[in-house]
Amino acid sequence: MTDTESRDRVAATARRLAAEGLLIGTAGNVSVRSGDRVAVTATGVVLGDCTADEVTEVTVGGDILAGRLLPTSELDLHLKIYQRTGATAVVHTHAPYSTAVACVDDLTVLPVLHYQQLLLGGEIRIAPYATFGSPELADAVVEALTDRQAALMANHGSIAVGATLDKAVDNALLLEWAAALYQRTRAMGRPRALTGDEQIAVVDQAIRLRYGTTQENPA
Ligand code: 13P
Repeated sequence: MTDTESRDRVAATARRLAAEGLLIGTAGNVSVRSGDRVAVTATGVVLGDCTADEVTEVTVGGDILAGRLLPTSELDLHLKIYQRTGATAVVHTHAPYSTAVACVDDLTVLPVLHYQQLLLGGEIRIAPYATFGSPELADAVVEALTDRQAALMANHGSIAVGATLDKAVDNALLLEWAAALYQRTRAMGRPRALTGDEQIAVVDQAIRLRYGTTQENPA
């Protein structure tokens, strides 16, 4: 991806997250990695109106390469994800249901109520609260992302990663759906999580049936 493409796609992704209702105003940030370069939304940008010139380019180590605006206050969070995981795209939002689940006292994970959540890697950890933009928050979120495509941030919001920006948005939407499901289930009764064996059976079945992909009719 060229630098121009990266900036265009980050801006388009920020606008899409706002259009999907996953964030409002300046809440949230988006980045994509291409080699040693990271294109990331600038701090204070209204994401629903984000344009390519509101995206800043930095190295994976954090040196600013190009852009008229300073990068997001969560730059450390984005960079630590790139430095310590295989992700190439990151979206951080304050999506309403995800954020609500992340505000429940004593809840440490979003359990797997529905097998679709397994696409995110299983139960979703809630990283302990730390001030936005702090190294403590970045460290806690990276740890919560271990073997997962998404995590929740206590009293703050959600984060999703992916191999592409579209995949990271898909993961943020799936997490928001799972968080809404949890909230609705709790309103009706005690949630029942899938057992470990039930989850393994789903993974086996999904591999066997190549679930989630279209398949040619051999007849
Ligand atoms: P920025 O405007 O600095 O990206 O901050 C938004 C935010 O959501 C911080 O967590």
